Amino acid sequence: MRVAVANNKGGAGKTTVIAYLAEALAARGRRVLAIDMDPQANLSRRFGYGEAELVDMVTTAEVVAANTPGCAAQGIVGCRWSLPRHRELVERIDLLPARYDLEARVAEAGTLGAHERLERALDGIDEDYDVVLIDCPPALGHLTQLGLAAAESVLLVLRPEYDHLQGAIRVRDFIETYRRHLGRPHLHVAGVIINEHDRRRGLHHWHTDSVTDTFGTLLWSPPVPSRAALAEAIDAAAPLHGRGAATRPLITVFAALADHLEAQAHAAA
Ligand SMILES: Nc1ncnc2c1ncn2[C@@H]1O[C@H](COP(=O)(O)OP(=O)(O)OP(=O)(O)O)[C@@H](O)[C@H]1O
Ligand SMILES: [Mg+2]
Repeated sequence: MRVAVANNKGGAGKTTVIAYLAEALAARGRRVLAIDMDPQANLSRRFGYGEAELVDMVTTAEVVAANTPGCAAQGIVGCRWSLPRHRELVERIDLLPARYDLEARVAEAGTLGAHERLERALDGIDEDYDVVLIDCPPALGHLTQLGLAAAESVLLVLRPEYDHLQGAIRVRDFIETYRRHLGRPHLHVAGVIINEHDRRRGLHHWHTDSVTDTFGTLLWSPPVPSRAALAEAIDAAAPLHGRGAATRPLITVFAALADHLEAQAHAAA
């Protein structure tokens, strides 16, 4: 199953959700490939690959430029989390990294069939993975379109704030309008995750209700709470396992969200 994670609004927690959904899925034995389609390369750093070494690696920038069937295989590397007590978990997570010059691919957007280049590069990779998660940049331009055209469904991540909900609605409407143009007539929103929820804030309750009004049963529960322990793990490019009591409730939250993802996969099969 290939899932693109998107929101037109930046800083919603898309990359965070991919990292820790991948961890939750790997913890239950699933094989996960995470694809970084953001020139910020945040996901690549969070899986252990710094900007300096990415310069010498095959990344989504080269893979999209190459435009040959299956060429993504040449860029796939292992997640580098240091987790000695859960080594098998880490070994189940792979990454196709990004580099800042992925931005250069935008210039090809006008070329015939350019939006199919990631899809073509991923040809044949699915049999090695249970789930492929594609991290999109906070925009609806060419790089996100490459991600959408390679995906079967879309996961929206938003903070319980007005602008984030609008950004998510824009992605949903974009998909409905352009999925045929992207060669994905069945592309749809599979789920919506609220991130950085603070239950002490009335505004967050209010916007959670707005999300439910807008997306109905597509809203997955529970929301990801706003936690310093999560921001610290992300900052340290570390998984949630192995960080003591503070991250344990977050492991439970992402396990529940992984249940939703897998339920979608079974429904689609
Ligand atoms: N649940 C959370 N609790 C606390 N901090 C969080 C949480 N989720 C995300 N953050 C913080 O918000 C920052 C932005 O998150 P992230 O990079 O995942 O967003 P994004 O949607 O991928 O951003 P972009 O649009 O730039 O790609 C993180 O670096 C982290 O510090
Ligand atoms: Mg991101």
